[in-house]
Amino acid sequence: MARSVTLTVGAQPTPRGTAYGPADEARSFATFLRRYPEFDATLLDELRAAEYGRLEAQDQLYLDYTGGGLFAESQLSEHVALLRRTVLGNPHSVNPTSAAAGELLERARAAVLRYFNAPADYRVIFTPNATGALKLVGEAYPFDAHSRLLLTSDNHNSVNGLREFARAADAATTYVPSTARSLRVDEDDLKAHLRAADEAGNNLFAYPAQSNFSGVQHPLEWIATAQSAGWDVLVDCAAFVPSNRLDLGVWRPDFVPISLYKLLGYPTGVGCLLVRERALARLRRPWFAGGTITTVSVQGDWHTPAEGEAAFEDGTVNYLALPAVELGLRYIERIGIDTIHTRVRCLTRWLLDELAALRHGDGSPVVQIHGPRTTHRRGGTIAFNVLRRSGRLVDIRIVDERAAELGISLRTGCFCNPGAAEHAFGIPREKLLRRAESPAADHIRELGVESGGAVRVSLGLPTTFRDAYRFMQFASSFCEA
Ligand SMILES: Cc1ncc(COP(=O)(O)O)c(C=O)c1O
Repeated sequence: MARSVTLTVGAQPTPRGTAYGPADEARSFATFLRRYPEFDATLLDELRAAEYGRLEAQDQLYLDYTGGGLFAESQLSEHVALLRRTVLGNPHSVNPTSAAAGELLERARAAVLRYFNAPADYRVIFTPNATGALKLVGEAYPFDAHSRLLLTSDNHNSVNGLREFARAADAATTYVPSTARSLRVDEDDLKAHLRAADEAGNNLFAYPAQSNFSGVQHPLEWIATAQSAGWDVLVDCAAFVPSNRLDLGVWRPDFVPISLYKLLGYPTGVGCLLVRERALARLRRPWFAGGTITTVSVQGDWHTPAEGEAAFEDGTVNYLALPAVELGLRYIERIGIDTIHTRVRCLTRWLLDELAALRHGDGSPVVQIHGPRTTHRRGGTIAFNVLRRSGRLVDIRIVDERAAELGISLRTGCFCNPGAAEHAFGIPREKLLRRAESPAADHIRELGVESGGAVRVSLGLPTTFRDAYRFMQFASSFCEA
């Protein structure tokens, strides 16, 4: 049984709460299906029942797919069966158990390259997560005093952190801002920044294919534009790949960090860096470790780095978990990423429209959406704030607490993307120049963000119309008479 939604803000009843009553759901779904005939209501709904039954069993409404995907039960059972029937040892050797693990590792690598349709000049380096992939690039990229690092303001902190490697090498970092309401980038502004590559140095441009804050999908066309202007291009695809096709046969970025658990739900602790050989060859690692060298001498004080990806995988890789990557990718391939994409797009558009239409008794809006209102060049991540009838923002802690009481997993804050948040809330640069002394929550309020940040819901492969509807029941409980 779903928990019922009866909450109100303040003492007022909720006149629109009944608009999403249980009796209306079937009618709303029928209208939805008429509007989105491309929505696959059979295959994925059957999978939801067969593979994700734990959500219903525990009455959980999971809406944090940008935070992490959910695994299908068959992914687990296939992985456990594989571990049960094999004996796997540390792959850094040639003994039988080591060779078996090594073979599965190479199969996982090949599966990733195949899944992203990567041409022969791409390599895959396994990392603990996207952040690990970004750090590999940051610490080994040949920044020097002539180099430039160009970042979009809309970036996860794990990309923002690259600027510290640039700073240490006296390279200049520049940000391309987002425009206030759309949270997109002005293309003329970007092109002007791209013209500023320094021919004497190495230039790195890094941006997300999909914003983890607003869901904005920044054009992949920028890759070729930037490369022809003299930039190496890093496209952060962590939030993009769980419900979008990334075809490396078409788009050819130099570096692509990915969190595989966001795509597959399982195993956690596994990500990768997809990298072109020409870019990999220019990276210089600041250290070596077990597994990353072919020869080394203590007394001679020298070492020879291993070839290709091996030089970047420090120590023993997660060799029991990695075979699950191939199984997980096969699961996604059986469904089809385009089917997942369409489903997420339809549900996102429905939610955007319903949220935008939600009204208090006096006709004023209940929700302020940050970023685009349609699904054109945007993914299934929606950032918003709840408004009171007076127009004031509801504190995100209230939204968070009430959602938690109802078993709803959403996110609040700035989602490790301060640049997007600064533009979404229109915080002027002057206010941001002084380093924060107070704790994060107080600092955000001192900057004038009375709500304490934004609320984020994100959709994924297992999301159903019922999930979206149940979320609207929750959102409509904030309507004031
Ligand atoms: C766009 C983006 N980049 C990078 C990251 C960092 O990923 P991880 O925490 O797996 O390293 C995230 C995580 O949410 C993300 O959404």
